[in-house]
Amino acid sequence: MIITTLFQAFMLLSIGATHSFHRHCIASQGTSYPKNLQIVMIDDVMVYYYNSSAERDAVMPEWMNHREGIEFWREMHQNLKYNRFVMDTAVRSTSERFNHSHDHIYQAHGRCGRRSDGSVDAAMSHAYDGKDFVSFDVQTRTWTAAVPHAAFYKRKRESDLEDIVRLVIHYESGCVRWLENLLQFSVKVREPKVPKVIVFERLTPESSEVEVTCHVTGFYPRGVQVEWLGSEGLPLVNGVISGEVLPNGDGSYQQRKILTVTQEVRYNQSYSCLVQHSSLTGNITVTWVSKQSLSSTVIANGGKQRHKKEEDQR
Ligand SMILES: *[C@@H]1O[C@H](CO)[C@@H](O)[C@H](O)[C@H]1NC(C)=O
Ligand SMILES: *[C@@H]1O[C@H](CO)[C@@H](O)[C@H](O)[C@H]1NC(C)=O
Ligand SMILES: *[C@@H]1O[C@H](CO)[C@@H](O)[C@H](O)[C@H]1NC(C)=O
Ligand SMILES: *[C@@H]1O[C@H](CO)[C@@H](O)[C@H](O)[C@H]1NC(C)=O
Repeated sequence: MIITTLFQAFMLLSIGATHSFHRHCIASQGTSYPKNLQIVMIDDVMVYYYNSSAERDAVMPEWMNHREGIEFWREMHQNLKYNRFVMDTAVRSTSERFNHSHDHIYQAHGRCGRRSDGSVDAAMSHAYDGKDFVSFDVQTRTWTAAVPHAAFYKRKRESDLEDIVRLVIHYESGCVRWLENLLQFSVKVREPKVPKVIVFERLTPESSEVEVTCHVTGFYPRGVQVEWLGSEGLPLVNGVISGEVLPNGDGSYQQRKILTVTQEVRYNQSYSCLVQHSSLTGNITVTWVSKQSLSSTVIANGGKQRHKKEEDQR
């Protein structure tokens, strides 16, 4: 559950054009959960996954398997191994402090990236049992307790000057160096993928309406804009159901927008699905023409026209 929420949170953060590095570390005590989990992501690419319940240690991705990659992996792996110990200590000392006996979870999230002016943007925060606990401000080099009872942990971390120096070095420079290395190594993994757009219709048996689906799939990165436009070329809001952007499982994504129109307007109104994505130089526009079998006009890459007959995808 917690993992899912975390993923969703940083997926949202990663939609923007600038790249970001995220590390999630989770230590738990007495739960059915692994004692220690570590996840590193750049944007939405998983780089490092450690599960203390699994038999093997974190496995280096194939795309890092070259001299510089291996060297880099060793450095990151050492850092994260040390961090397992920090996390285990955090969950133990916190639960001991509160005389909590079992089922506790301690989470840390650190991230970094560059702002458009090149400066480093980094942050780190912890949660205990799913609630904000403490955070570290990289610029002022101070710990802040999110709740009064977290003050003991803030003091504990603040009194360790070596620990503060370690964090500052990591979040002021190490982290973005990692990000930049990883961006370079994973170029192939992050290569943009062009969306494929399919429009198909379905009659709803229970009413006299037609559901027209604009199915956009196979694109990367995740950020996409899909809109149904009416005759005047204006985006439609009413009668449009928007699906979530979903992973296809092969590193690409898909999204559906379903337009519902009445039978009466299906022959004398024109609707088109407009797709904007960073992999395209222009937009993709697919116009829905209601026929027995569906034929659509595709306008891609800023104006080149070609005609395409689509099978009814039902
Ligand atoms: C961790 O590994 C164990 C053992 O392989 C597995 O059962 C469990 O689902 C894994 N948990 C996560 C969160 O990956
Ligand atoms: C935990 O237990 C100790 C010893 O029984 C007690 O002194 C302390 O106040 C307890 N702490 C909390 C947060 O309940
Ligand atoms: C479309 O045609 C139907 C009947 O053929 C008519 O009732 C409706 O008003 C027309 N709609 C528009 C927008 O022209
Ligand atoms: C793509 O669509 C958007 C929104 O309608 C528009 O502002 C933009 O000019 C279009 N770009 C191209 C290249 O057609």
